[in-house]
Amino acid sequence: MFCGRTRDADEEDAEVVTGMAELEGLEFGKSDFVLLDEVTMEQFMENLKLRFEKGRIYTYIGEVVVSVNPYRQMDIYGKDTIDAYRGRELYENPPHLYAVSDAAYKAMKRRAKDTCIVISGESGAGKTEASKYIMQYIAAITNPNQRVEVESVKNVLLKSNCVLEAFGNAKTNRNDNSSRFGKYMDINFNFNGDPTGGNINNYLLEKSRVVQQQDGERNFHSFYQLLRGGSDEMLGSFHLQKDPALYTYTKEGAATATSNNDRSSHKAVMSALEAIGFSQEEITSIYQVLAAILLLGNVQFESDGESVQIVGLEAVNHISELIASDMDSVCKSLLFRTVATGGGEVIEKGHTEQDACFGCSAFAKALYERLFGWIVNRINSVIEVKDYNPVLHGKNTVIGVLDIYGFEIFDNNSFEQFCINYCNEKLQQLFIELILRQEQGEYQREGITWQHIDYFNNQIIVDLVEQPHKGIISILDEACLTVGKVTDTVCLESMDTKLAQHPHYTSRKLSPTDKTMDFQKQFRIRHYAGDVTYSVEGFLDKNKDLLFQDFKRLMYNSANPVMKEMWPDGQLSITEVTKRPLTAATLFKNSIVALVDKLGCKEPYYVRCIKPNEMKSQVLFDDARCQHQVAYLGLMENVMVRRAGFAYRQHYARVLQRYKMTCEYTWPNHLMASDREAVEAIITQHGFQDDVAYGHTKLFVRSPRSLYTLEQERAALIPILVLFLQKVWRGALARRRCRRMRAIYAIMGCFKRYKVKAHFWEVERRFTNVRTMADYGRSVEWPTPPAALSQFHNNTVMLHRRWWARQIVKNIPPSDMLEVRAKVAALTALSGERKDWGVSRAWERDYLANVRDCPQTSVAFIRVSKELRNRDEHNQVLFSGFCRKVNRFNKSTDRGLLITDKCVYKLEPKKQFKVLKRLPLDILTGLSVTSGADQMVALHTTSQDDVLLCLQRGELCSNQDRVGELVGALVDHFTRLRNVPFPVKVCPLAVQLLMRGKPKSVSVESKAGQNNADFKKSRDGFILLVPAN
Ligand SMILES: Nc1ncnc2c1ncn2[C@@H]1O[C@H](COP(=O)(O)OP(=O)(O)OP(=O)(O)O)[C@@H](O)[C@H]1O
Ligand SMILES: [Mg+2]
Repeated sequence: MFCGRTRDADEEDAEVVTGMAELEGLEFGKSDFVLLDEVTMEQFMENLKLRFEKGRIYTYIGEVVVSVNPYRQMDIYGKDTIDAYRGRELYENPPHLYAVSDAAYKAMKRRAKDTCIVISGESGAGKTEASKYIMQYIAAITNPNQRVEVESVKNVLLKSNCVLEAFGNAKTNRNDNSSRFGKYMDINFNFNGDPTGGNINNYLLEKSRVVQQQDGERNFHSFYQLLRGGSDEMLGSFHLQKDPALYTYTKEGAATATSNNDRSSHKAVMSALEAIGFSQEEITSIYQVLAAILLLGNVQFESDGESVQIVGLEAVNHISELIASDMDSVCKSLLFRTVATGGGEVIEKGHTEQDACFGCSAFAKALYERLFGWIVNRINSVIEVKDYNPVLHGKNTVIGVLDIYGFEIFDNNSFEQFCINYCNEKLQQLFIELILRQEQGEYQREGITWQHIDYFNNQIIVDLVEQPHKGIISILDEACLTVGKVTDTVCLESMDTKLAQHPHYTSRKLSPTDKTMDFQKQFRIRHYAGDVTYSVEGFLDKNKDLLFQDFKRLMYNSANPVMKEMWPDGQLSITEVTKRPLTAATLFKNSIVALVDKLGCKEPYYVRCIKPNEMKSQVLFDDARCQHQVAYLGLMENVMVRRAGFAYRQHYARVLQRYKMTCEYTWPNHLMASDREAVEAIITQHGFQDDVAYGHTKLFVRSPRSLYTLEQERAALIPILVLFLQKVWRGALARRRCRRMRAIYAIMGCFKRYKVKAHFWEVERRFTNVRTMADYGRSVEWPTPPAALSQFHNNTVMLHRRWWARQIVKNIPPSDMLEVRAKVAALTALSGERKDWGVSRAWERDYLANVRDCPQTSVAFIRVSKELRNRDEHNQVLFSGFCRKVNRFNKSTDRGLLITDKCVYKLEPKKQFKVLKRLPLDILTGLSVTSGADQMVALHTTSQDDVLLCLQRGELCSNQDRVGELVGALVDHFTRLRNVPFPVKVCPLAVQLLMRGKPKSVSVESKAGQNNADFKKSRDGFILLVPAN
């Protein structure tokens, strides 16, 4: 699109217009004056008029917005419009205040630049309205998170307008809501781009309006709002009546109809004051000052030739009440002035009637001026940025909004117009500095081919006013300083003498033929915006701005702390030598110089307001008036410079930094000799080489569209880069975490190994000598093992126990082993449920063969036993003994019981131990015993024909337990040798068994007189009767 294009204006225009036409048809005129076919006043005016008639009130000159007051409500400020402009580039939407606001905001947020929006134009051109829309826009697009503290700052900033307009605006013949002060508001933003506070500077309040208004004009709105909107109670307490016509200061404006409703405005102001944070006491004091001023206006003086008196002391009484002073002091201040003589004496000098009137109105003006200043300061104290810490909160950036009186040319121009017009000269100078001269200067510095544009540099007029010694302000100040009667006329003469040669100054004396000026009364300055003839009358008084010290002291001594605060300078005692106060003009000059300095270091955005007609008409476009404004606002020069210029310029390093990701040769770092070459690579890659110029240090881009393309590409790449950076950083973080984890594990591993080793060492230490210990270390306490070794610990404890057991067992002779094994088996089988199981005695096993136990029968039994061994080939007798046995027919008899490793024999003792029954041992499946001391045993069989018997004791001991021994022998045999389970049931109450398949229950009962245990039939089986003891 940009390739091969020559600097042909038409072609370029056509191209950009196509872009714009998408948004706004050409029938609405050109949305940027830069696109005019020819830069002539005619074409400019034609376009401006066309756009006004088509309801397009905004037009650009590059980034400057030209705004024409539509004098009607336009539907272009709603939420939809705000959304359409939010975050967009200037040329993406039709021209609008919102677009510059957004540009200023973006510059502030993206580049951390302080910016300012300078709104200029004559009275009624729409500056204040514009400033309000700008504020609304900024408020609407910030604080998306609705943070409370930010919302409250925004609220105060917005609400402050209402209060400042009530006290600082008035109806004039040119504007129903004319700002009678200059306003510069700084809005502070945090690094998030949310407003954190602000500061308002006010300039030169037109206080003369308090005491006098031109025909058809009004005093400040606040007076009418109080008189028309104040409650009866309030007015009563202030000794006021509801009618503005009753007060000298509001009489002129009383009959004037205005578009604003004083009553509803009063309500709005009261609630705004409250919302901002004014206390009830402060609000009352504000209105008390207003009331006092109104009453002061009605004070009259009369003279009897000698002394001066106040007519009607009632008003003074009320005033003293309102300003919380006593009546005497008020009267004194109005009628006398205290003067310190050279010798430190203080004398009271009575006023002439004229002095008294002068003093009274000076007092009224000063009261109002101080009140206004105090209100502004009070608002500032609420919104000032508190607890700001640049380290913590990042750079504090600022957007300033300047809404200041435009150039004024009246029929009768006085000191105020002189100040206001000087201020406009200064702002024009700033505009020239920033927009015109800087621009051209930069092209020269950067070595860019440049066609010089002639523009009028108004520095010479600024000098005419403010130059030390020679300037008009200096001459005025000098005249004020001079002791003796220096009149305005004398001062004019002095100016005529000193400025005679100045090309922008003239007077009737210097050009006697010019009859448009009066002799000894008027002088003329050829301002950049046009010639203005000033009447020198009152210049000196206004410059001196004399207020008798007595009033300051009066107010300082007020019992009302709010009023006292407004008059700190009243503190000085009469005899204190005060420095001569600076004159009004010098004070104003200083404040404007400070303002210009403040603006000069910010990135400026301009809104140039034009008033289409004097009739406040929606349709009228007064060509002559408009052309005049276009001329003095320097808009034509602006267009010319802009057309010849470049929309964007930036140092190579910055361009590279911002756009290097859009080009493969520059991302992430270039290998070229200089940043400039790298930037060239970016530009060439995008094909913009014909739309740019390369300066010595900066790149100049002609059309914003190229920049926009770069921006768009950058915006598209940023998420990818962010992702990339996130990836790398996350990787780095993860690796670091991993390294740490590894280190932690290594430390943990070492520690664990140490713990394990320490455990080993401790075990070793404790158990080293167990071999030689009497108890083989049974009493040695085990150290608590680390968790990892708990299994190991259990095993080693087990091992030690086994080893220990082995040491014990090792010492048992082999002949005892069978008994030991049987006892172990019995111990396990009975598992502590049977109280006595004969563990402590020697287990003889084969009792029937035991001579000591069965001295009479053992011989016979041994014989039989041998025969059985030979016959059945058993290896071992597991148990033998006498027993009482019962059969299924309930018959109980004494028997011999022999259990070998092959069979169970029932023997008849009475018949030489004849075998009555022989059961293979295999058929035994388990046995049941009771938990008591009885000797009953039920041997369970596979044939479900169990053997129930009660062991009897022989001679060895008549009450030893043999059940445990029988159990031990059988269990040991089955489980250890045969390796089959042999369940033993220990029954607490009754033993259950089967006889020929039938269940029987056998309980045990002790019976007195029973000598030997014996069975007896019971209902469900048997009862074993045992002797009672
Ligand atoms: N954008 C607008 N939309 C609708 N009406 C507007 C607009 N701008 C200005 N006006 C009308 O013009 C009147 C004067 O505007 P404004 O008070 O902003 O002028 P100004 O430039 O501040 O004048 P002054 O220098 O006297 O304070 C407003 O009261 C309003 O009626
Ligand atoms: Mg205004």
